[in-house]
Amino acid sequence: MIPPGSRMPAAVQTAWFLRDPAGTFDRLHSRHGPIFTVRYFGFPPEVYVTTAELAEQVFRTDRGGGLAGAARRDFLKPMVGSHSVLTLDGDAWSHHRKALTPPLRARQVAGYHDEIADIAAEKIATWPLGVPFALRDRIQEITLEVIIRLIFGIRDAERLGRLHVLLPRLITLGGSASVVMLPSHLRGRAAKAPFTPYARFLKARATVDAILYEEIAHRRRTEADGADMLSGLLAAGFTDEEIRDELITLLIAGHETTATSLAWAFERLLRLPHILERLPDDEEYLDAVVKEVMRLRPAVYEAPRLLDAPLRLGDYEVPAGWYAGPFIPLVHLDPDAFPEPEKFSPERFLDGRQSRAWMPFGGGRRFCVGAQLALLEMRVVIREVLHRLDLTAPDPAPEPRRLTNVTLTPARLTRVTARARSLDRTR
Ligand code: HEM
Repeated sequence: MIPPGSRMPAAVQTAWFLRDPAGTFDRLHSRHGPIFTVRYFGFPPEVYVTTAELAEQVFRTDRGGGLAGAARRDFLKPMVGSHSVLTLDGDAWSHHRKALTPPLRARQVAGYHDEIADIAAEKIATWPLGVPFALRDRIQEITLEVIIRLIFGIRDAERLGRLHVLLPRLITLGGSASVVMLPSHLRGRAAKAPFTPYARFLKARATVDAILYEEIAHRRRTEADGADMLSGLLAAGFTDEEIRDELITLLIAGHETTATSLAWAFERLLRLPHILERLPDDEEYLDAVVKEVMRLRPAVYEAPRLLDAPLRLGDYEVPAGWYAGPFIPLVHLDPDAFPEPEKFSPERFLDGRQSRAWMPFGGGRRFCVGAQLALLEMRVVIREVLHRLDLTAPDPAPEPRRLTNVTLTPARLTRVTARARSLDRTR
């Protein structure tokens, strides 16, 4: 038996989802229970699950039967190429994952602490005072810089300068619906017509690639055994093209997700003064706050697998060729895993408490390789901001969730007004 779902045509279901993703899933969940099917126009059907136990069954398919790479390949390939840990499966994935993991382990990223704090301080000093602005965009400048300087490891001022101009342009063009949703069989034609968004995207990509290839050539000549990502990939014998693809992968997977999660942290904290009051210097409490923000406002809403074998889930069977994955915001509201699930309560994560239902970074073998870096960045940026600025929300109403690419973003991008903190409250 196939999991239940709406009988409306796929085009209607897609339109509902795009307009109000959270509301649509709430309705499906209350109507059909913890497993339901959604049909998106132009794609195989997707079965969503909303409990930790069912999510684990889906993640178990990483050992065989489920392909996380294939589930993402079509829409990510124009940006990340053919050699990306995000879009590979099987042995090729495992080879890439092994090379990417060591520089992103907790102990290794702890060494980035001071540099992240410096980058944050540098950028925060440029934020406007006394007038409302969109915090998400400003924070994204910090998370982008962390990737360029710490993960790419680029120190050359001229290359850095060019990337600062070109990367935001590449990301905007590459993330636009007209590029992401362009069917692969139309890409060749769109590339030849000079003024299509796809052709402009390709031009921006070629310019960024040229800079990355310059850096790779430079690093091949000068050093091979540093501890950063690029050195690790060189040491693992990766080709220039493979290194390029993985650097862009880390950029795409790592900077917008972290910026959005941070934007949600401030969106929530400005509306929860009793929590904000206890921040930022109690390190353990800050860590628990970050986790609770990611529970109630996960930036990534799903972690799908494309099934190459049928998957049994309870009384249902999901056919091969369909997608299956957790709908993360609803797993995080499962009252069995999180009592009083709607309540913002960092205490759930104090004293080393964890829950297998907490999955903002996905799970199984494809669990986010950058999770430790993201968590560190979030703690450091929150601390640096709160030490320097008093933030207020010009509109106290909570910001609804809006869908942008693969993330759920605060609809007003966390609109805030900043004022310098009075001296007695700084460090
Ligand atoms: C708060 C920030 C972040 C969130 C919410 C997030 C979330 C996720 C999720 C949900 C997945 C899919 C896991 C699955 O399919 O089970 C993922 C995969 C991935 N993430 Fe993150 N991520 C974040 C930050 C980062 C950072 C900072 C990096 C790297 C610098 C990164 C690199 C990756 C990569 C390479 C993958 C693919 C792993 C694989 O397929 O083996 N992410 N992330």
